Amino acid sequence: MNVADSEVVASVLKESGFEVTGDINEAGLILINTCSIRENAEQRIWGRLRAISHLKKKRRDLRIGLIGCMAERLKEKVLETEKLVDLVVGPDAYRDLPALVAETEAGHKAVNVLLSREETYSDISPVRMDKDGVTSFVSIMRGCNNMCAYCVVPYVRGAERSRDPESIIREVNELLDEGYREVTLLGQNVDSYRWDKEGKITDFPELLERVALTDPLLRVRFSTSHPKDLSDELLHTIARNKNICRHIHLPAQSGSSRILKLMNREYTREWYMDRIKAIRKIIPDCAISTDMIAGFCTETDEDHKETLSLMEWAQYDFAYMFKYSERPGTKAARKFRDDVPEEIKSKRLDEIIGLQNRLSAKTKKLDIGKVFEVLTEGRSKRSGDHLSGRTSQNKVVVFPEEGHKKGEYLNVLIERCTSATLIGKII
Ligand code: 5AD
Ligand code: SF4
Repeated sequence: MNVADSEVVASVLKESGFEVTGDINEAGLILINTCSIRENAEQRIWGRLRAISHLKKKRRDLRIGLIGCMAERLKEKVLETEKLVDLVVGPDAYRDLPALVAETEAGHKAVNVLLSREETYSDISPVRMDKDGVTSFVSIMRGCNNMCAYCVVPYVRGAERSRDPESIIREVNELLDEGYREVTLLGQNVDSYRWDKEGKITDFPELLERVALTDPLLRVRFSTSHPKDLSDELLHTIARNKNICRHIHLPAQSGSSRILKLMNREYTREWYMDRIKAIRKIIPDCAISTDMIAGFCTETDEDHKETLSLMEWAQYDFAYMFKYSERPGTKAARKFRDDVPEEIKSKRLDEIIGLQNRLSAKTKKLDIGKVFEVLTEGRSKRSGDHLSGRTSQNKVVVFPEEGHKKGEYLNVLIERCTSATLIGKII
């Protein structure tokens, strides 16, 4: 999400004569795109600011801006507490950046943190920052209307709004022309994508299929799905389009129905399991990943065990796993006590990570001996004469180069695996 936003920002500034540089010492303007989702994400930003403070001492004309979610959450307060920062710009105010930068050049501090009900930056062609030139992100909606009790996103990114499908298809075609072979459609809850043009509704399955049909050589991914909205219709759309990747990221957050209710996730453990069963039935070769939170308010050992048993049952291919981090202003911060002690949160998170490591290793071992179509993304970082790419299931594969290059689809026989990677040979 943040990469896609940075690309929009680069585009807005480029229109006003700015250029992107790879050398921080050369920059006249440094913008730090920020995330507020967990406290440690914010701590890292303060660390980053400290790390670049010497640049400002050397160069009085250097301007430093904080943009994105943390700018939105802290607003003008950032300017009071952090003297290094010259401008603060929220996620819906990027079009205003050239004017705000001009204000700082006139010696003022500048702030715009207005949220919008309409802004989707749909007409802006992002300046691509991805290095491989093969895979790219396309933002299809912004904001979020779900009020998960722990989550700061609805407050810092505003209400949900979908982007005009015509502008999405246009951007996808531009990417294809530039040689890209994979797009990931991005939104906080893609299943609630909805565009109404004079009564003609485009929903997510229809949008996804339209993108997939632009070219059979284009791989299409999407993220994130909300279990409460994942429809069979979407699953059938994936099943009948070979170039829609066989991978669904379906964050469970907890395996306990009691905790899910407190989290305001609007589904139960049973509903979630039914959705996984539907995926396995309709798209048998689909990989599934999840997000899990350890130690949400009032979580007991029993609740935690239910999370572990759900993971074991679901046999996830991959997971992002977090300790609950209270975020100011959220429903959980206002109404519940963050009452699971830190050491218990850590112990539960370790158990969740330990289990997932075992599950990830298991699913990789099951891939040995199978042949996968791999989209090559470039040279392997570890070994110069090997290429690296991903399967439709989003698993990284490394294999000898044999005269091939990035952007090609190759059939690779998996021979062995490490904890993170499948290793094989082209057949
Ligand atoms: N504490 C811990 N994890 C959180 N997430 C969102 N908010 C919090 C929080 N306050 C996690 C959820 C979400 C992912 C992007 O970040 O698992 O799916
Ligand atoms: Fe946050 Fe829930 Fe929206 Fe995801 S769906 S961004 S967790 S409020």
